[in-house]
Amino acid sequence: MRMRNPKDKMEVINNCTFFYTEEGFSNSNLIHMEIGMGKGKFLLEMALKYPNINFIGVEKYSSVASLAIKKIAPYNLPNLKILIMDAKNLGELLDHKISCIYLNFSDPWPKKRHAKRRLTSEDYLKCYENLFVKDALIYQKTDNDDLFAFSLDSLKNYGYTITDVSYDLHQENKENVMTEYEEKFHDQGIKIKYLKATKANKIKKIIFDVDDTLIMFDKEKYLETYNNILEKYQVLNKKGIDLYKAIGEYEKTSPCFNKETMCSFISSYLETDLPLSFIDDLNNLIASNWIYPPSKDLISLLDFLKNNWELDVLTNFFAGTYQKRLTNMGLFSYFHKIVGGDKARKPDAQVFLEFTHDVKAHECLMIGDNLEIDIKPALNLGMKAILFDALDEYPTCKYLKSHSYEELKKIITELFL
Ligand SMILES: C[S@@+](CC[C@H](N)C(=O)[O-])C[C@H]1O[C@@H](n2cnc3c(N)ncnc32)[C@H](O)[C@@H]1O
Repeated sequence: MRMRNPKDKMEVINNCTFFYTEEGFSNSNLIHMEIGMGKGKFLLEMALKYPNINFIGVEKYSSVASLAIKKIAPYNLPNLKILIMDAKNLGELLDHKISCIYLNFSDPWPKKRHAKRRLTSEDYLKCYENLFVKDALIYQKTDNDDLFAFSLDSLKNYGYTITDVSYDLHQENKENVMTEYEEKFHDQGIKIKYLKATKANKIKKIIFDVDDTLIMFDKEKYLETYNNILEKYQVLNKKGIDLYKAIGEYEKTSPCFNKETMCSFISSYLETDLPLSFIDDLNNLIASNWIYPPSKDLISLLDFLKNNWELDVLTNFFAGTYQKRLTNMGLFSYFHKIVGGDKARKPDAQVFLEFTHDVKAHECLMIGDNLEIDIKPALNLGMKAILFDALDEYPTCKYLKSHSYEELKKIITELFL
């Protein structure tokens, strides 16, 4: 709903005291959310009718939201808050907070080329994926036959089950709070279509990053090894730290890992001429040096996970090298497959999609220590993700997060078992 800006729009918005913020609600009651609340009638009446449920209304246009604010403000309700934003951007703020979503009389976007804008398109369903506390629950009401048919298909294709459906809601004996649009259509004698769709929070694969997730990265040990290899190749005017920086730069500037390009990059960075065997030696050392026994907590976690799900590995290093390294640590037997940076590297979506040939993206759980290259790209694809933040590098991050293997086991058990 686009409309002219009301004259007092900014004043109304600036004086609004019930925007949803990180602080959330003052209690832990369930949170229901309406996307596209329009002028706010449904939201207000629901919040009045169900004081033990918290409600969030989301509206894309501030002009429309200002009308809702005016309507809601006099009631001073502790269980109603709003957000002015596109539903695409709710991600981190509402991560795992919502019990159900209402889509009431969403814009139908009748042209095929605009299908992605429909609030039940695959793109939007991906955005909702991680908002639910656990299982997904969506209610839709609409006057529009085409949008309704599209929604039924799209939800089913995505993995939702339609648990209730009506082609004439007002003829049924269901509790129903009418929206502004609904009243209008009802008065015109148009039948209201209604659906309830659910999706269990099930995963089939768990994908682990390696460094600082499965294996704690030990920079000192790397530097020692790098010193040794430089000595072996008689690069005597450079230190391990220079090689470390060279590899870091190569990682930053290369879309994938390739022995030849890595060798020439490092040669030119270190101002020397290295044979290809340098990269082979480097890989062998990384695969076999400073091998520690894995912690009891990690083994207990992997034992538990392996019994329930397929476990995979996604690293940005050469897959073969890390496979050997994990084998030498006694860990690779837990894993079904490893994808490395040989063809493309995280955060490129292509490497994440390597895991979705036989399952849907939302059936994959990514676990990694880097918000930008492990977690965000997985979430953008509609995967589940848990940030493994053992080093507490992201204290303010609101995405699902764990600081230890024990905590990881607890979260996975609660959410997915
Ligand atoms: C047709 S109106 C329906 C309003 C209200 N739900 C009703 O039934 O009376 C749809 C509303 O959804 C809002 N909207 C559309 N796309 C949105 C999005 N991606 N995120 C948030 N709001 C959106 C529009 O601005 C509009 O106010």
